[in-house]
Amino acid sequence: MVTSLKGRHFLTLADYTREELLFILDTAHQFKQRYLAGERIIPLLPGRHLAMIFEKPSTRTRISFETAMRELGGDALYLNWRDLQLGRGETIEDTARVLSRYVDGIMARVYEHEKLEKMAEYSRVPVINGLSDLLHPAQALSDIYTIFERKGRDLRRLKIVFVGDGGDNVLHSLMLGIGILGGKIIISSPKGYDPNPWITKLFEEKAEPNGGEYEIVRDPYEAVKDADVVYTDVWVSMGQESERERRIRDLEPYRVTVELMERAKGDAVFMHCLPAHRGEEVVDEVIDGRWSIVWDQAENRKHVQKAILALLIP
Ligand code: CP
Ligand code: NVA
Repeated sequence: MVTSLKGRHFLTLADYTREELLFILDTAHQFKQRYLAGERIIPLLPGRHLAMIFEKPSTRTRISFETAMRELGGDALYLNWRDLQLGRGETIEDTARVLSRYVDGIMARVYEHEKLEKMAEYSRVPVINGLSDLLHPAQALSDIYTIFERKGRDLRRLKIVFVGDGGDNVLHSLMLGIGILGGKIIISSPKGYDPNPWITKLFEEKAEPNGGEYEIVRDPYEAVKDADVVYTDVWVSMGQESERERRIRDLEPYRVTVELMERAKGDAVFMHCLPAHRGEEVVDEVIDGRWSIVWDQAENRKHVQKAILALLIP
């Protein structure tokens, strides 16, 4: 039984057990039900403040965390990295020490994942990963919630396939989350685009003991055959703009098209964390078509993050 998650950082799903992840997901479900029943304010965090530091742009993460915090009776501050003294060279260590004397939680979106680890080391309040080059755990946990909603909680029964860049941050977090919960994910990516070795090692340590599995299948048509869930993300993530030409060329065969979706099960769903680069990794007919649950995914971010905030912030 999970007693408390108060004060914990949320840098990677690998820091959480299966039971803890299910506890957050169950709490999110309660928040969603209460929200849909019209209960907008659940004041579990009165007077608490969340600092939200962004080194990269954001629409969903920023707004879902901000509204979640307000609906919990607290408040959130949007802080652009460049406008803080961080942008002029104040260290992450000093910034984390100072911020954590003003606020009750820090959510940050950064380029290098190590920056988050440093922030967490020097912060005395929880640090939440709002996306790094390696991971996007808040997104992935919310996506698992959406899969539960659509396909039930028994991940072992499902064929979940990620098509595209195997080194993608959202995929890394999905791998860890699905694996820790005992499920399997199939990754269809070209050679040279496999998951980061640090992630596969973490997967072996944290997911395999729970029965978690992943498999790489190069041919996207073979990979998505009879799939229940087809997931993709952009081919050029934030920070990879200089590699654009090579990535587009190499990932072209992995575009999610109607023909590809027709290989999946009749009731398969299409998922994407958004923002999408329509016409690149996915065509309009799929993201706007009968398979797509991308808007539900975006909506669920708020409910899952509300659970993360309510459970972690002291
Ligand atoms: N999916 C996601 O994190 O979107 P934003 O970049 O808009 O926050
Ligand atoms: N992989 C994408 C996710 C955006 C939410 C990126 O890092 O840009």
